[in-house]
Amino acid sequence: MSRTPTPQQFSLQVFLDDRAERSLPGDVLEGLTSSPKCIAPKHFYDARGSALFEDITRLPEYYPTRAEREILSTHGRQIAQITKTRELVELGSGAAEKALLLIEPMLAEESLERYVPVDVSETALREASEAIATLHPELTIHGAVADITRHLGDLPQSSGGRTVALLGGTIGNFRPSDRIRLLREMATFAGHDGHVLIGMDKVKDPAVLVAAYDDAAGVTAQFNLNLLAVINRDLGADFKQEDFAHVALWDSENEWIEMRLRALRDVTVTIRDLNLKVSFAEGEELQTETSAKFTRSRAKAELAGVGLQLADWFEDDAGRFALALARPSD
Ligand code: AVJ
Repeated sequence: MSRTPTPQQFSLQVFLDDRAERSLPGDVLEGLTSSPKCIAPKHFYDARGSALFEDITRLPEYYPTRAEREILSTHGRQIAQITKTRELVELGSGAAEKALLLIEPMLAEESLERYVPVDVSETALREASEAIATLHPELTIHGAVADITRHLGDLPQSSGGRTVALLGGTIGNFRPSDRIRLLREMATFAGHDGHVLIGMDKVKDPAVLVAAYDDAAGVTAQFNLNLLAVINRDLGADFKQEDFAHVALWDSENEWIEMRLRALRDVTVTIRDLNLKVSFAEGEELQTETSAKFTRSRAKAELAGVGLQLADWFEDDAGRFALALARPSD
């Protein structure tokens, strides 16, 4: 039987409108005039980019999503028992299925009262929240269309028992200094009796890692190149996708995957709304994403550095991906 969520069950707070607040103009201006050129990965996710990412999660080479789902299915109940979560805040919430793997054991534990999904995409947030609200009318849902690096402090206060989750390996998208800042904010936001739950892809055979970001069907290449379409549409630029090639490589020193777009010839691009012309020399690369990979010991040390004590570390059977559960140390 289908039912419509009651108005008091679901509320939504919008901190971001679709364009200016996403900081695209500033990021593109800064990124394309610096050396090497770079654009932050959060700009991948327009409607097409989000759909392409969903396709990526179903690729044979892209194991993280399946591995994390396996961990949540196996250990969700245990996580609910340890955390006794009353409020689950999910940063970068995305699709509903993953959230349900935490929400359902937390409801079964009879602790969970409120779910707070936070995402930059209002459409994704509404769809997921509606699906969850319909399945679980007893749950209060307070969505926030927000940037997790800027708006955590603006979210509603909790009355304790908060778990802050950042799943999927998204933590790997932040450069080390930004990552430390975000972890510190998550720790503060979790509160003294709260927890943080973080999905981390593990360091492994570089061939396996590179294949996950350079799949045979070319979906990740399309995802990467779609960034140029976003800039064309939102800033009136004239990038041609056929002038660039998708590159994915393993940086063994930093232990991260890096995605780039390499100019196949000398290219000049006009970005009308920024009044900017940018030249790429043949072979020049635009950095579009880093995706850091972790070991348990490095995760533990990094968490300790921001006042978080690693309480549990759950892995999938094949040991490819991990969920780190931590709590504030004092
Ligand atoms: C959504 C950030 C976890 O880094 O693995 C997938 C994004 N990029 N393929 C990741 C992504 C290329 C993904 N995260």
